[in-house]
Amino acid sequence: MSSTTVQAYPPSEEFAAQANASAEIYARADADRLEFWAEQARRLDWATDFTDTLDWSDAPFAKWFVGGKLNVSVNCVDRHVAAGKGDRVAIHWVGEPGDTRDLTYSQLLAEVSKAANYFASIGLEAGDRVAIYMPMVPEALISMLACARLGLTHSVVFAGFSSGALRSRVDDAEAKLVITTDGQYRRGEPAPLKTHVDEALGTGVDAAKSVEKVLVVRRTDHDPDLNWVEGRDVWWEDTVDQQSDVHEPEAFDSEHPLFLLYTSGTTGKPKGIVHSSGGYLTQVSYTFHYVFDHKESRDVFWCGADIGWVTGHSYLVYGPLSNGATEVVYEGTPNSPNEHRHFEIIEKYGVTIYYIAPTLIRTFMKWGQQIPEAHDLSSIRLLGSVGEPINPEAWKWFRQVIGGGKAPIVDTWWQTETGAIMISPLPGVTETKPGSAMKPLPGISANIVDDAGKPVSAGEQGYLVLDQPWPAMLRGIWGDEERFRETYWSRFADQGWYFAGDGARYDEDHALWVLGRVDDVMNVSGHRISTAEVESALVGHSGVAEAAVIGAADETTGQGIVAFVILREGVENTGDELIAELRQQVSVEISPIAKPREINVVPELPKTRSGKIMRRLLKDVAEGRELGDTSTLVDPAVFEAIRAKKA
Ligand code: WT7
Repeated sequence: MSSTTVQAYPPSEEFAAQANASAEIYARADADRLEFWAEQARRLDWATDFTDTLDWSDAPFAKWFVGGKLNVSVNCVDRHVAAGKGDRVAIHWVGEPGDTRDLTYSQLLAEVSKAANYFASIGLEAGDRVAIYMPMVPEALISMLACARLGLTHSVVFAGFSSGALRSRVDDAEAKLVITTDGQYRRGEPAPLKTHVDEALGTGVDAAKSVEKVLVVRRTDHDPDLNWVEGRDVWWEDTVDQQSDVHEPEAFDSEHPLFLLYTSGTTGKPKGIVHSSGGYLTQVSYTFHYVFDHKESRDVFWCGADIGWVTGHSYLVYGPLSNGATEVVYEGTPNSPNEHRHFEIIEKYGVTIYYIAPTLIRTFMKWGQQIPEAHDLSSIRLLGSVGEPINPEAWKWFRQVIGGGKAPIVDTWWQTETGAIMISPLPGVTETKPGSAMKPLPGISANIVDDAGKPVSAGEQGYLVLDQPWPAMLRGIWGDEERFRETYWSRFADQGWYFAGDGARYDEDHALWVLGRVDDVMNVSGHRISTAEVESALVGHSGVAEAAVIGAADETTGQGIVAFVILREGVENTGDELIAELRQQVSVEISPIAKPREINVVPELPKTRSGKIMRRLLKDVAEGRELGDTSTLVDPAVFEAIRAKKA
């Protein structure tokens, strides 16, 4: 698409007049990037001031706000109470069955303090790791903040992940405490959750060695067979709730690891992305203020992400709360009990800023605009999109139907690794184009380059690189320095740039278009899943000899997972039964979100002479295209067989 065919949306005068951002902040950041970041760091309360803004001498390991000390939970909670805002609602929580709970900043402080007191009472110390495997209940956010308060590094594991995925993350981080709930609501029904923890942690010789305690929040209270390990398992109500609600916090180094978050890479093994305290909080706080144009006095923010993903960390916990925001936290799925759920919540709480993934927008489109139109959504004044490229049609629908034809949309590009938003328009300042993330934020430097690192010209596709360090950047991969260098810094090692794994291009107006991953990482409903992970789960089935997985274009989910498998000699292809088993295998090994949309049993996989599976061709088949160049294939006839199978 060329920019000439794309309608641009300049900011309205009305919005611009009240916007937090102005053209001047781009100029200020350009004039002195480090000074600009130092200024942003002053948004936070520091117990000890920093002496240097950046130490990049040990690149790619950055140190930001060197020598500074702060407490992240104090910045997210205590300081708002101290400033007389204790009665402001921090969290309007909505449970899936319809139960609700409001927590003011004062109440949040009391809850976080109790949890911190309990964690300290069982001997946890700064630097220890805590795994959080919970649905979106208030105690999940409270637990994260209580960890931050004590300098415990949390590792949130999405509660939709399998016990196997939980175990590998617990082991990798050597977590001492696991926090969970008895069960969780999924599409209106209670389902067990602690059971997965029991499975994950094992018993006897197979037991996860690091884990000392499992702390359980009562959520569904429906499981009569709830397993209980004496000495290891404790209820939240018997422990945390019994603690004093006063806790004296201590300050930690700016570089202290705040959290680990595991994400998929191009190999099967998820990597624990390490994030810092001072730099991370500075950038999430700054971006929340400017990108979402947040005003304490009037906004109700809602980010639809789960805390199991980085979006939930940065824009459900640390960004909004460090800004003293009032936000909605919703536990369930968008269609429980019916498709009106999100719009009822927007109406009830007067949500003003609404931040979701394109896949959900496309789902809303499928359900029909009569559903949002049945509600008063006039409170909405700003919309945000995240997680995958947003197609122009969804963008326009979002603005028209949800945004009343006038709410600006911020299409925010970033990653688990970047920690915070990197590329996005600034509302009230930047002109927007449907489908473009527009340009790097003030203080952020990005480029699009070719194989040799040469900037590409307008219209040409290249690799998206970040050519300057940024405060919220990852500080490494947990326990694997080599993999950190190799994964992110080897592609443009000579230049010292971070390669994001995405392809992108500039248009003639220098607007930036992110085109999606150029590596073997799929993006399904904004969730990152590696082809290798799914392949290894499939090969884990006794009947499968070989598997190849690709992400094929999907109207709703962005990409859908399509698998091609070869069965072992002598294994009978039982058709639907086998397919169901294989899908189940992936669900159990990884998560239901990784279940292939389609599994094709084929006689052979297309390989190059060097033995590499030609995914590009499989993608062509899956997307129903004419085959591309097959000349490097060992046996081009393989394709006819695959195609015959698919037809
Ligand atoms: C990958 C990162 C950022 C939090 C959610 C996903 C894709 C993300 C956009 C966007 C186009 C986007 C990229 C990126 N992505 N936002 N606005 N436009 N693509 O975090 O799981 O670490 O995935 O999501 O491909 O590399 P993640």
